[in-house]
Amino acid sequence: MLQKVHPHARQAGRDAEDVTSAQPRLLMCEPAHFAINYSINPWMEPAKWAAAAHSVAVSQWSALHDALAQTGAAIEKVAPRAGLPDLVFTANAAVVLDRTALMARFRYPERQGEEPVFTAAFEGMRKRGLIERLVVLPEGVVLEGAGDCLFDEARNLFWMGFGQRSEGAAAAAIEATFGLPVVSLQLADPRFYHLDTAFCPLPSGDVIYYPGAFTDEGRAAIAARVSEKQRVVLDEAEAAQFSANAVCVGRTIAMSRCSDRLRGELAARGYDVVATPLDTFLQSGGSAACLTLRLDRCSASRSP
Ligand code: ARG
Repeated sequence: MLQKVHPHARQAGRDAEDVTSAQPRLLMCEPAHFAINYSINPWMEPAKWAAAAHSVAVSQWSALHDALAQTGAAIEKVAPRAGLPDLVFTANAAVVLDRTALMARFRYPERQGEEPVFTAAFEGMRKRGLIERLVVLPEGVVLEGAGDCLFDEARNLFWMGFGQRSEGAAAAAIEATFGLPVVSLQLADPRFYHLDTAFCPLPSGDVIYYPGAFTDEGRAAIAARVSEKQRVVLDEAEAAQFSANAVCVGRTIAMSRCSDRLRGELAARGYDVVATPLDTFLQSGGSAACLTLRLDRCSASRSP
């Protein structure tokens, strides 16, 4: 059977440094040192982590990588580092828009060692012209990158999660850096400790989310901006499989697992779901979106 090749796919090898192209670009980090040897969220149980799971993680990560490359996205890589098992979750590196990167500051010491590694990676991308500007958060403010701050291209605004990892105070820094409004959503359930574990804005304006992750106020803030027709509501079982932790490139949505019902709802909105199991990463509280960071997004005023 002929494989469908996205028009951008042809550019991948030839034009990797053509930063003016509209090719989607994602940052990932191979799981060479991925493990669960501390616990900073309810999913992480170091005692249950079997060394044998490492090779499964490697193949699951590769399958995600390949599925994303197949959509035509270019994949940038951060080199893995011993002693930083969560470096694979590149979503947490920074908030990136308009070629500006607002670098993350992590809540827990276990992940703070990642900050200089991600900064060096972004410095490298700045030298290559992929990024124009690196911005440092105000002293002491915690914001765990795109894990808690998602750009909504249909509404030209950011959704920010706070209350578990990132702080409410980060909203002002995001607004000041990117000059766009920020809608803050308090996270109420420790299982959904980053916004991207329970919320995924799609380019069409539809939003996949799990209402149980939010406070009443948060649900009201979502309802005020996302019409009922645009809400793709997950039930608890779907949310617990991290179906909201999805990566959308063009009309393809990659996620670890997808119920038939959800697949149907997304198909009705014009999306193709690629389900590529990432269970070993779920043991760390992460999945598809956490393992990637979109580098090429532009706000409405900067879009070509
Ligand atoms: N073990 C990591 C942590 O607890 C998982 C991070 C998942 N990343 C995300 N963007 N949700 O920090």
